[in-house]
Amino acid sequence: MNKKYYITTPIYYVNALPHLGNAYSTFAANVLADYHRMLGEDVYFVTGTDENAQKNVEAAESAGEDVKKYVDRMSARWQETWDTLAVTNNDFIRTTEERHKKGVEKFYNTVFAKSDIYKGTYEGLYCIGCESYKTDGDLVDGLCPEHKRKPEILKEDNYFFKVTKYREKLLKHIEDNPNFIQPKERRNEIIRYIADYMEDFSISRVNQKWGIPAPNDNEHTLYVWFDALINYLTAVGYGTDEKMFKKWWPAQMHIVGKDILKHHAAWWPAMLMAADLPLPERIFAHGFFTVNGEKMSKTIGNVLNPEYLAKQLGIEPLKYYLLHDIPFGKDGDVSIDKFQEIYTSELANGIGNLISRVTSMIEKYSNGVIPSPNKMINRFPAPTLINKHLESASFEKALKEIQKAVSDINTKINEEKPWEMAKEKKTEELDSFLYDAVEVIRNIAWALIPFMPETSDKIFESLGLIAAEEKKQTFVKISEKTTIEPGLKVKKPPILFPTISP
Ligand code: MSP
Repeated sequence: MNKKYYITTPIYYVNALPHLGNAYSTFAANVLADYHRMLGEDVYFVTGTDENAQKNVEAAESAGEDVKKYVDRMSARWQETWDTLAVTNNDFIRTTEERHKKGVEKFYNTVFAKSDIYKGTYEGLYCIGCESYKTDGDLVDGLCPEHKRKPEILKEDNYFFKVTKYREKLLKHIEDNPNFIQPKERRNEIIRYIADYMEDFSISRVNQKWGIPAPNDNEHTLYVWFDALINYLTAVGYGTDEKMFKKWWPAQMHIVGKDILKHHAAWWPAMLMAADLPLPERIFAHGFFTVNGEKMSKTIGNVLNPEYLAKQLGIEPLKYYLLHDIPFGKDGDVSIDKFQEIYTSELANGIGNLISRVTSMIEKYSNGVIPSPNKMINRFPAPTLINKHLESASFEKALKEIQKAVSDINTKINEEKPWEMAKEKKTEELDSFLYDAVEVIRNIAWALIPFMPETSDKIFESLGLIAAEEKKQTFVKISEKTTIEPGLKVKKPPILFPTISP
């Protein structure tokens, strides 16, 4: 049986359209999903929308729309965006769906039956922007620093989840599983939070009509985070399709932003422990990026729309740039200028130019067909495996390996001057040289599959290969000695990276 790989993105609030930060998480998860597909694994990749939040209600009200209609319309827009961006998710979960509600009820009832849910009174400052309670220490000048709004004082009877009961067990799990929370720095933050600060949290609200009612008390609506996290289970059949659930749970990977790591790496595993369910294998928190040094914000007006950008710049170059420029897990900054720089140097003048250079030489010196190597010189090492980098979600390192392979061949071409071999009629040497160059290009195209599937198709086709056939092979092959068949008809690819003026 194939290995399985279940990977998720956060489910996004529908109070606004997707922005580039959301696309960053989704792209990252997409690359890992496609990479694991290339490993021949059974992959299930899920994203979706978080619809039961109070901030969605506010957004609907200010749009003068019925809440249900509003979330339906917005969720559809999110799905459209991911389709436009060629995201390869297998499913899209909405927390207003019946399957989700059923699973949440089952989950709540299980945890309630274990006495891990109790009723208490909560008084505190609540920020609707964050959908969470704040302490005085969280505020700056009395305002939530994130949303610049004054939190409301809430005092009410709530149901609480006894997360503190799991403090020791959680710490032990994190200690025993060094890769459970990544990157390391964030893992340490979470350990400190769990050990020193974590308190039971309220999981219900009164006087809120929108959301999933607490199954044991209809006066209460479940707190949006409690319901949202459960999407990772309900998307794979928890409470509705046990067979499917058995197949896919636990997840191999949750990709999240650093802003929501506490929810995923402390609350969520404790909730799963309470429900007697296995924990996800890995939770990776990536960093946040600014745009030209400034935080993306509606007020500044610098919120980047990924659909628009992809149209201007190309989906694949956009994905390449984001994952290339910010080491995954770290904060960073993006700008159109930097995009342009990398597009030109690494894509147009790097990969694009190499392919056209080698295919031209084959046309000129070998009648357009891949020559037979007289001896296997193998002077260009196949690009060192991107595998180990993608195993650790180090996208930027994998992309550097690919660029290194590109510049290595370019250097060899410049040094060994195949045009002189041609002039001097050193046919054997020339054939072997060209053959080797083609081999490396094929490897580069393979390594690009998870990042730039269309581009890699075009490269395969230009080498006379059938892209679909190549993709049927798995990445395992990349580590083997591959040999392309001599005699294939090479053709110049279409311009892979045309000049763009963003
Ligand atoms: N609905 C919750 C998540 C529930 S998951 C069970 C939520 N949604 S959100 O719409 O606010 O999306 C937050 C996510 O968007 C972040 O975790 C991160 O993945 C992404 N980003 C938002 N802004 C970002 C940047 N400026 N930079 C990088 N990623 C950013 O939170």
